[in-house]
Amino acid sequence: MKVLEERTQTRKINKTQVINKQYLTSSNMSQKRILITGAAGFLGSHLSDRFIKEGYYVIAMDNLITGDMMNIEHLLTNPNFEFIHHDVTKYIEIEGTLDYILHFASPASPIDYLKIPIQTLKVGAMGTHNLLGLAKAKGARILVASTSEVYGDPLVHPQTEEYWGNVNPVGPRGVYDEAKRYMESITMAYHTFHHVETRIIRIFNTYGPRMRLNDGRALPAFIGQALRGEDMTVFGDGSQTRSFCYVDDLVEGIYRLLLSDYSSPVNIGNPNEISLKDFAEEVLKLTGSTVKIVYKELPVDDPKQRQPDITKAKTLLGWEPKVDRAEGLKKTYDYFKALPPSEWTKLPKEFTSK
Ligand SMILES: NC(=O)c1ccc[n+]([C@@H]2O[C@H](COP(=O)([O-])OP(=O)(O)OC[C@H]3O[C@@H](n4cnc5c(N)ncnc54)[C@H](O)[C@@H]3O)[C@@H](O)[C@H]2O)c1
Repeated sequence: MKVLEERTQTRKINKTQVINKQYLTSSNMSQKRILITGAAGFLGSHLSDRFIKEGYYVIAMDNLITGDMMNIEHLLTNPNFEFIHHDVTKYIEIEGTLDYILHFASPASPIDYLKIPIQTLKVGAMGTHNLLGLAKAKGARILVASTSEVYGDPLVHPQTEEYWGNVNPVGPRGVYDEAKRYMESITMAYHTFHHVETRIIRIFNTYGPRMRLNDGRALPAFIGQALRGEDMTVFGDGSQTRSFCYVDDLVEGIYRLLLSDYSSPVNIGNPNEISLKDFAEEVLKLTGSTVKIVYKELPVDDPKQRQPDITKAKTLLGWEPKVDRAEGLKKTYDYFKALPPSEWTKLPKEFTSK
């Protein structure tokens, strides 16, 4: 990891030189420039791939607190890509023009944000504030990654964007949920008072390659346990539901929302709902594993049901998910199975500061 970081720093210097030249080249004047925060994470790395493919110049920013350079290593030699190792809660300086910003930096899995609650609140609050300021200064359009967690343990089902949610601000999950609710609020304020072009996406559970097997989320946890031959843990009685969206579908939704002219929040997720017990059984069948399903106590404030109402995404963006769960699960399982077995047994990330 240290070696990879050193290589990245070296490349960063070289890339900065390339960029400076790029500003002066008139043939590149039309190339759109996008800043992606959280780019070394699961979603940020897929977004980096997509925008490179669309011909953008991608500036990837990450402090690697939960991300991994392996996710973007294949992009480091691309002349349209640069990586900046930076914490977005600190002042952000970007040379040259910026057309778009995607703010995806934030711990996203409960196992992470429960260990680093203050960083989670700071990245949602100070990080978002810094990025909105940058968007204003550069005249860039900014899309912020919010979440279905703003609905908390919802009393309305399925969840429409008009539902205000049922969040416990002082419960353990409050650090993430309230950070995202504040993020939405300050984003709207910049839109209203500073006329910054803003987009807010509420992402429902998404899965796919480059998740971390040990990040505590249901799908990688089940697959990891199946690969290691351990019993599969379901919390509660497994009747709580989730709706899982394959990452390619989500990326398409983000792309469309960014290029739309809609500034209120939009749900993106797959409405195909499943109980966690049935989901565990699907993973068992897919992996051919013979391990048992075991039940453990439900964590505090665990939402009982989740299903996005995607009417808005359908009407405004012409978007709906295309990848069904069987296909998405197979692609994800193939990815994890191909990892070196040392990855299957890696322990969850430990963090040095709180
Ligand atoms: N994956 C999902 O199902 C899901 C659902 C809803 C919302 N989201 C949101 O999408 C975004 C990405 O989630 P993910 O699943 O890819 O998580 P991830 O942990 O894989 O990626 C997050 C990235 O942000 C980086 N980061 C965190 N704090 C930072 C900081 N202060 N400065 C710079 N970089 C920082 C991490 O190092 C990591 O690379 C998050 O904002 C998350 O809240 C994800």
